[in-house]
Formats: sequence, structure tokens, C-alpha cells
Amino acid sequence: MDGAHPSLADHVSGQLRALCAAIGLPAHAPLASVRPLIEPVAGRSLADPPAWPTDISDDHTPVEYSIACDAGKPPVLRILGETFAQQPGRAANLRAALRLVDRYGAGLGSALDRFHLVRQVFLDGDPQSDFALWFSLVHRAGRRPEVKIYFNPDTRGPERAPHLVAEALRRLGLDDAYATVLRHGVRTGEPGNRDRFSFFALDLHSRTDARTKVYLSHRDADADSLLRAASATPQPNPEAVLDFLKLTGCTEALTHRPAVSGYTFAGADTDRPGTYSLYLPIRDYVRDDEHARDLVLAVADRFGLDTGVIDRAIAAVARRPLHTGVGLIPHVSLRVPGDGPPGVTVYLSAEAYRVRATPRWVAVRSGRVA
Ligand code: TRP
Repeated sequence: MDGAHPSLADHVSGQLRALCAAIGLPAHAPLASVRPLIEPVAGRSLADPPAWPTDISDDHTPVEYSIACDAGKPPVLRILGETFAQQPGRAANLRAALRLVDRYGAGLGSALDRFHLVRQVFLDGDPQSDFALWFSLVHRAGRRPEVKIYFNPDTRGPERAPHLVAEALRRLGLDDAYATVLRHGVRTGEPGNRDRFSFFALDLHSRTDARTKVYLSHRDADADSLLRAASATPQPNPEAVLDFLKLTGCTEALTHRPAVSGYTFAGADTDRPGTYSLYLPIRDYVRDDEHARDLVLAVADRFGLDTGVIDRAIAAVARRPLHTGVGLIPHVSLRVPGDGPPGVTVYLSAEAYRVRATPRWVAVRSGRVA
């Protein structure tokens, strides 16, 4: 604290406490897990600019929260974050991130064997991209926190991204996965144009259900191309995907921020993904956060999920009325597993530095101002 202005740590821990209370999860483990991640910048006053222009969130807050909901299960809290060096820079941030991997490995008992199989692929040499590693801290009631790690396929230059993803999959024993992803998710057959690899993620645990996840972002994608992207799993669920697009008003080509596909390979799924996820950057397609909230609750309701807990989570993180800005709910995603009902994840921005104001014409049209 520097008097009037809270620190980043104050802001984040206040939101995490409120969020945990809202969803009925003890706050201790989430608070403890995020501490080493933000440690180098934790004491900075929010009156100062962000330490590094991280793409975790629009206003460069280095964490983003999300609530993953599945019918009949308690919600899961996740914290996506980037760690920075004391003196931030691409190479220095990578060194800080590698130290954090070891720290989580030791402290949370995360298994690093799969990480070590692919780290060379993505992390050899100086990073050519603004981030090299992101972390997701996953908290489930009554379970130890889990860590998921995200590599940036562009880290050795965008033109090498397809090669890096193919090589990482091969090292993990997922030789046929690459062709499947290309066949369904890449419109021209040539990754890097309209459909580009945006992330590559691994669970840092060694259970047999440890996941490998490949993400493609789809520029200007319409419902047909997203349905095709979603058909990579052995049991696709086009009705669920189409309803998700309809309920969010996203059936036309998404010409602002791109929709993203996530292909999850776990256990025996070595050639086809067991689960498909579709991430919509809903903040680019709504009037304001009240609109985003209404759409997200309609989606949750369609899939039989607890809308009350999602609404409470939104209210817990918000530091302002929802209609005054846009971006508190940056994404909503649908998860379509082969063997069960779809799940929905709602993303929540910390907005520690900045709120994107609702454009005045929107406020006028919705009767909020004269
Ligand atoms: N902020 C970035 C984006 O909007 C990265 C990101 C954060 C992201 N959370 C995400 C991308 C969830 C897709 C889904 O693109």
C-alpha cells in the first residue's frame, strides 16, 4: 500500500478472497499459489504503470481468473498468469518463469517430466516473442492445486510455430495429433495464415490423465468453420457448439478478436483429441459487461449449469457497475468432451490498471445516458 493506492498484491488478493467466498472454495491455497507468480511486482502501486505489457489481459494485469463449470460438479477456480523478472525483459522473464516452474515443482509436487521433454523445442535460444511461458493455477475443492503451463509457439519466430508444435507433439508420443488438428482446424491446410497456433499447454502432473493441449486461433471464422474445427473429436457435438454460438450472438464471421479452438489429448487419445474447447473473446462482440453477463448466464443455463454461482463470481471480481465498461468478462468457452455433457468456463479480468469504458454511443442507445 502507498496510502491512497493499493498494490497489485492487495488488489489481486482482495478479488481472490471475494471470488473464493462466492464459489465456496477456501481461499488459502489460491492465495498461496499466486504469491510466487506475482512476487516480483506484488508491492508495486497500481498508480504506477504495469511492469510489462503482458497479453494475459487487455490492461496488462498479469493475472486473469476463470471459473470452470461442469454439471453436477463444484466449480473449479483457475488463475492464468505471467511472471516477470525484477527488471522485466523477454529473456529475464523467461529465466524468472523457469525458476517458478521449479518452485511449483518442489512446492506443489508438480511432475516436470513432460515439461522437460518439450522445453528445448520452445525455449532454446533467446525468445522472439513477448511471452515464453504462462501458468495456470487450478484449484478444486479438496484437491491439491495443479499447475498447467503454456508455451508460446511463436517463441522462435512465427514462421517456425507449426514446426515447433509438430515436434513437441512428436516428443510426447502424439505423432498423429498434428495431422488431425490441421485437417479439422486449419482452413487452407497451411497453418500460419488465418488459422495459427496460439498456445501449446501441458499439465504438470504425471497421472495418466495429464493433458496436452494445442490451440489454434481462427481469424474471421464463421459458424461453419468452427463446426468443422469442432469435429476433430471422435464424438463431436455440433448442436452444443451451434447453440453456444447462437446464444452468444457469434454465428457470423468473427472479424474482431479471433475465436480459438483448443484440442485436448490425454491418456489414450493419441491421434484424435478427446475434448474440443471453443473460446470466444466475447468482449469484442457485446455492448458492455452487463450484456456479456446476460449472454454467459444464458449459455450456462442451456447446459444445465449453476447460473447463480457464475453470477456471484462476476459480482465478486467486479469493482464497478457492469454496464459502465466492457472487458470484465473477456472470454467464455465451451468444453465438449467425448464422454460427457459440455462444460462452460467464464473468464474474469482483474482490471487492476484500466477499465475499457462502454463507448458513449452504446450507453446512449441502451438508455444509460441522454
Ligand atoms: N488476453 C489474451 C487474449 O485475449 C490471452 C488470453 C487470456 C486468452 N485468456 C484467454 C485467449 C482465454 C483465449 C482464451 O487473447
